[in-house]
Amino acid sequence: MKNTEKEIKMEKEIKLKNEAEVREIGIKLGQKLLPGSILALEGELGTGKTSLTRYIGLGLGITRNIKSPTFTILNEYHGGRLPLYHFDVYRIDDPKEMEELGYEEYFFGDGITVLEWADKIKVLLPDDAMFIRMEYGKGEEERVYRVNFDIDSI
Ligand SMILES: Nc1ncnc2c1ncn2[C@@H]1O[C@H](COP(=O)(O)OP(=O)(O)O)[C@@H](O)[C@H]1O
Ligand SMILES: [Mg+2]
Repeated sequence: MKNTEKEIKMEKEIKLKNEAEVREIGIKLGQKLLPGSILALEGELGTGKTSLTRYIGLGLGITRNIKSPTFTILNEYHGGRLPLYHFDVYRIDDPKEMEELGYEEYFFGDGITVLEWADKIKVLLPDDAMFIRMEYGKGEEERVYRVNFDIDSI
């Protein structure tokens, strides 16, 4: 079944009180994620999709400055524990454009794929993609993450 036809079960919810907590979780993800992991980030502007990706990069030991690939769609970073493939698919209107980019080489390769605005290309994501749906919380730095995997045991 395609992801567009089914509702992904976002059964877990966690609250991040501030950016320091997001940093901590991003570093852990960067240290522990297995090769071939796909992390699908959803959430409006400013909820911290790029920030979390930076912290994952830190956990992977990537020293280059991670910038949002808004215009290039994809930036890749090597030299860390695993390669990081950082997509921002905000400007993708048709999943076919992803095919032109050769997305499968990345999604099903040996690196970590992180996607900003992943909801735009949900149809291409495999069943085992890890979703994080981000929302603003009450305080300025508070965020609420809804996830379809056991984020606490990472
Ligand atoms: N808890 C938090 N998590 C992530 N970013 C936060 C948090 N609190 C404040 N921020 C700030 O919010 C902004 C998030 O921007 P960014 O990561 O570019 O968001 P997005 O990529 O989702 O548009 C950054 O300036 C960051 O410092
Ligand atoms: Mg961003």
